[in-house]
Amino acid sequence: MSEKLNATKVNYKLNNGKTMPALGFGTFCAPEDQSIVKDCVIAAVKAGYRHIDTAYLYQDEKAIGDALQELFKEGVVKREELFITTKVWPNFWDKVEESFSTSLKNLQLEYVDLVLQHWPLCYPKITDNETGYIVFTPTDDQGNIMEEKDASYLETYKQLEKIYLDENDHRIRSIGVSNYTVDNLKDLFRDPTIQTCPSVNQIAIHPGKPQNEIVDYCQEKGIVVTGYTPYGSQGGPALKLPLIKQLSEKLDMSVNEVVISYFLNRNLVIIPRTWKTERLPQSLHYKKLPKEIIEQISNVKIDFE
Ligand SMILES: NC(=O)c1ccc[n+]([C@@H]2O[C@H](COP(=O)([O-])OP(=O)(O)OC[C@H]3O[C@@H](n4cnc5c(N)ncnc54)[C@H](OP(=O)(O)O)[C@@H]3O)[C@@H](O)[C@H]2O)c1
Repeated sequence: MSEKLNATKVNYKLNNGKTMPALGFGTFCAPEDQSIVKDCVIAAVKAGYRHIDTAYLYQDEKAIGDALQELFKEGVVKREELFITTKVWPNFWDKVEESFSTSLKNLQLEYVDLVLQHWPLCYPKITDNETGYIVFTPTDDQGNIMEEKDASYLETYKQLEKIYLDENDHRIRSIGVSNYTVDNLKDLFRDPTIQTCPSVNQIAIHPGKPQNEIVDYCQEKGIVVTGYTPYGSQGGPALKLPLIKQLSEKLDMSVNEVVISYFLNRNLVIIPRTWKTERLPQSLHYKKLPKEIIEQISNVKIDFE
């Protein structure tokens, strides 16, 4: 039986020479009590995580920033030892500077390691009259999502690239995309005004959803793939699959570690989330797995998205 390895020590080289940790801490669906976000981020870094995944949409960047400041003050880690990702939501498709500078301010950082275009979509920026908050997914009277007319989703990537390539601007270390299909990437490569190949494409991947076509395409092009919702999202349904439980017993690993192994054996970045600090130790290790087990996990039947 192969030995357990420390997933927090695995790093991938990006196409611009920078390094990205294979295991990141996901921070979607933050609890209303933001002190839980702060405590979990501190606990994750103390447990060995060096990569945090957030987004403007998640509305938890301030609490993450507070956690990071405390970790720096306590001397637990230095800024350069961490990898922080944020994302630009489609309401800001043509206002990247506004979105990104707000994220940076809330994170209380001088730079982020990776900024992603969250979706290849353009939504209008509408504020709710009562709350004053941005309506992240605006809908019309019939409940249909309102997309901006005559807008090109590549505009967001172009604006990100402009900041990234500006020699006098050091706020972004790498840029990438999220939820891009092969066709979206081909569109991007065809645009003569874009010079920079995305470093990362972040897409949904979990047992039963291997996404082989887009993963192969990205890996051929030198784009690192990050898989989100690795445990199947809310409630962790992928961790409850009989196959994952059987493999956990057979391979002497937690169910979480089986999934982490599935990702790392495919050279994918994984960004699992828990808002329970006591669960963090279950998501730190992995093992080398034979191809047959990877295929079994890829092909398992699932009844969730
Ligand atoms: N780019 C995008 O469009 C996009 C979309 C979605 C997500 N993401 C990113 O990907 C990250 C991960 O996705 P996700 O947060 O949706 O879901 P996930 O990591 O697949 O699953 C999280 C769920 O698993 C549960 N869980 C964790 N460990 C468990 C255990 N040992 N036993 C039972 N349940 C367990 C968590 O519950 P507890 O909290 O109760 O432990 C939580 O409900 C996000 O946080 C976000 O950073 C990106």
